[in-house]
Amino acid sequence: MSLYERLGASEGIRNIISDVVDNHLANPAVSPRFKNMKLTPEELKTSAGNFFIVGTGGPDDYQGKDMLATHKGMNISANEFMAVLDDILAALSKNEVGQREQEEVLFILYSFRSEIVLQ
Ligand code: HEM
Repeated sequence: MSLYERLGASEGIRNIISDVVDNHLANPAVSPRFKNMKLTPEELKTSAGNFFIVGTGGPDDYQGKDMLATHKGMNISANEFMAVLDDILAALSKNEVGQREQEEVLFILYSFRSEIVLQ
């Protein structure tokens, strides 16, 4: 079964990503970033949901920018990257995603680190 299916397909992933964005807005380590963005929180939920869906083996509706273009010039620190991972793991646990799936998600997210964190 694909990771997409094991995360509860599109509905399950949209619930997870909704919690991720809510966690970012409530997390003082990163909340200023998400209160001053071009997208609205709802638009970010849709776009990040689409990104996650295609990245885990689901249908491809992602129309956003690639990760380098999205985060370029934001000067994102290693601590902020960790805070975002914490928020995502908390959302996975809240949605009762298993340990193995959490590790697979973490592995995928880590693969984007060099495109997101300021070098
Ligand atoms: C592996 C980790 C991450 C992934 C997969 C990711 C993914 C995404 C995606 C898919 C978008 C939407 C892009 C679009 O629609 O064009 C986005 C936007 C955004 N991301 Fe990330 N992101 C990550 C880490 C971070 C971190 C660490 C920060 C800063 C703390 C951050 C801040 C933002 C902001 C502020 C936006 C909105 C940009 C705007 O519209 O102004 N992201 N991200």
